[in-house]
Amino acid sequence: MNKVEIIGTGSYVPSKVVDNDELSHMVSTDDEWIVSRTGIRERRISKEENTSDMATKAAVDAIKSAKIDVNDIQLIVLATSTPDDFIPSTACIVQKNIKAVNATCFDISAACSGFVYGIDIAAQFIRTGRFSTALVIGAETLSKVTDWQDRNTCILFGDGASAVILQKGDKEGIISISTGSDGSKGDALVCPAVPVNNFLSKTKVSLNKGTVSMNGKEIFKFAVKILVKLVKEMVVESGYSLKEIKYIIPHQANYRIIEFVAKKLGINPDKFYTNLDIYGNTSAASIGIALDEIYKKNLVKSGDKILIIGFGGGLTYGGIIIEVL
Ligand code: UT7
Repeated sequence: MNKVEIIGTGSYVPSKVVDNDELSHMVSTDDEWIVSRTGIRERRISKEENTSDMATKAAVDAIKSAKIDVNDIQLIVLATSTPDDFIPSTACIVQKNIKAVNATCFDISAACSGFVYGIDIAAQFIRTGRFSTALVIGAETLSKVTDWQDRNTCILFGDGASAVILQKGDKEGIISISTGSDGSKGDALVCPAVPVNNFLSKTKVSLNKGTVSMNGKEIFKFAVKILVKLVKEMVVESGYSLKEIKYIIPHQANYRIIEFVAKKLGINPDKFYTNLDIYGNTSAASIGIALDEIYKKNLVKSGDKILIIGFGGGLTYGGIIIEVL
């Protein structure tokens, strides 16, 4: 089996900052409630850019950091719950934009675990020798599926994109991977699409709102359980101690989730890298934006281990231990 290295990271967020005060003019909420219940202070919201626009900018950033020729990219996997269109895939739109003419491209839908699932898929293609260079993107325009009158959800989400380049290499950069799903709990976080309503349909159904709704408490409990389980299991499986993991990058959903998990694991919450205070929850983009930040700020050096963990709609979850090369 081939070894897989992460050779570049990238990210992009829209320039428009929407802080909690601005939201308090739209729904009955306030900065104090949002910060104390979530840790979120502001988020970036797209004015016109769609998911492919942000994904393209994150991809260009990652290609630049990896110092590769765009023609080397043989696979583009794009994780999103907010594609530009049903057809073509957002991955294919990115391919057109960056002119990655040699790539096979497709989207995956795994909500906030999408970035982890995407790396897993790309790594398998590289390990088996099918492809040698892959671009993995997590990108979301959650603002287009947010109900801006629902204070339970609209305070949480933000827009953004992130990317990594994986390549066949001499050293192993992906130490271990663990993923799973629980479709039986899918109702806890939904964003309905187009119902069947054709000339054969007996009952006429009206179009739904197409916005996200969520059982926050259910997801909160699931997130805490999964984060604790994955951290414990993956550390044991990798043969490293928790001390040897420099950072845990969780999906950036809620700072209280992280505090709970840190307490249950008996570790300092500072081990968890967070930027949700300034970006909110960007779903499939969130882990990659944080990963890019860690690399670009030189917070890690060669040999450091990072554990990334996603959880969210589906329900889905997954973690990867990365070694910085
Ligand atoms: O990527 C997807 C993953 N999603 C998540 O990770 C979300 C996980 N869940 C959460 O982060 C939390 O459940 C929330 C932040 C969504 C909600 O926090 P909570 O502590 O579970 O609040 P709650 O839903 O129990 O609501 C408590 C109270 C309610 O009022 P009453 O019924 O007690 O009078 C809500 O109506 O807070 C009220 N409330 C608000 N008040 C001010 C709910 N949203 C707001 C708001 N501002 N934005």
